[in-house]
Amino acid sequence: MTSTSSISPLIQSLGEIPPEAVVFGRSDAMQALRNRMDKVASANVPVLIHGESGTGKDIIARMIHGLSPWRTGPFVKVNCPAIPGTLLESELFGYEKGAFTGAYGTKPGRVELAHRGTLFLDEISELDLGLQSKLLQLLQDGQFCRIGAQEDKKVEVRIVCATNRQLEVEVEAGTFRQDLYYRINVVNLFMPPLRERRSEIPDLVDYFLQFYNRKFNSRARELSTELMTSLQKYHWPGNIRELENLIKRYVILGNEDVITGDLVTREQEYFNPDINLDGPISLKKLTRQATRELERKVILKVLQAHHWNRKQSARALSISYRALLYKIRDAGIPTNRSTRRRLEPVPNQGAAAD
Ligand SMILES: Nc1ncnc2c1ncn2[C@@H]1O[C@H](COP(=O)(O)OP(=O)(O)O)[C@@H](O)[C@H]1O
Ligand SMILES: [Mg+2]
Repeated sequence: MTSTSSISPLIQSLGEIPPEAVVFGRSDAMQALRNRMDKVASANVPVLIHGESGTGKDIIARMIHGLSPWRTGPFVKVNCPAIPGTLLESELFGYEKGAFTGAYGTKPGRVELAHRGTLFLDEISELDLGLQSKLLQLLQDGQFCRIGAQEDKKVEVRIVCATNRQLEVEVEAGTFRQDLYYRINVVNLFMPPLRERRSEIPDLVDYFLQFYNRKFNSRARELSTELMTSLQKYHWPGNIRELENLIKRYVILGNEDVITGDLVTREQEYFNPDINLDGPISLKKLTRQATRELERKVILKVLQAHHWNRKQSARALSISYRALLYKIRDAGIPTNRSTRRRLEPVPNQGAAAD
């Protein structure tokens, strides 16, 4: 068995969960989510939480743990994309002494550390097919095998997974096992994006304002009605995380103009249609062009930010590596270094290549 000293560093601290009234707000969608979560938390079945990045999947996973019969047990989070592929197997399942070069001792994996607790697998779509089958075995009979071990071990663990991808699409593409998808998806919790629950924005703003005023010992004032109205109109691609960061900046800088300016820039980046009012307008065509153009800009920005490392960029964009390669080709973004350099300033590039 594992010693307590080897367990503690790996177990994520639970951090601060906002009050329930803040987490679920008042929208129908969130109330429905709460009912579903309450029902499922006490039953030991796998749960799949899906929704865009920043919608609160981590918080819900921790709440499920807090409401489960194993709430006094460990909550172990594994952020799948953060651990390089080859390490992930040993992190998850552990290894025996001598299993590979450098395995000088025995090490329990996080699956084992989550015994009688919750194992939270974040960004589950990042598991490769080999690890997916090991996970399937764990879900089927509670058994797994440390790397280099002769025998399987048994563990009792509640598995909660999260993803911001459409796993059905990954299944279709053959990158995610269908049988595993059914196993982890016994109960599905969908986190609505913030733009679909705008009515909650004022309460969230109040909460973050109080929270960061307390944290930074500040006295930032309530937001003006105008700014609150703009916040409610904005489309929040980064969801609650984006809103939280905006308020944090406001509290630190103590100046509304900064966030008003920020919002205007962000809006312009997203909605800047080039409409010719002299002729007939095809809304469908314009929307398609705008989407492609936006995709192209975002991909380019992310590629530049990751020094053109496509694997990292795919992760940052929450799409598969293959999907990114396809989109790069589709958007006519050159992968060759010299052509790329010419492209960097991107003045007015016109319609993307077909
Ligand atoms: N309903 C909520 N109330 C307050 N804060 C929230 C809420 N949902 C998310 N957050 C905050 O937003 C940030 C992103 O949430 P997180 O659970 O990490 O999202 P995800 O895992 O979906 O990307 C965190 O700082 C979290 O505390
Ligand atoms: Mg998360």
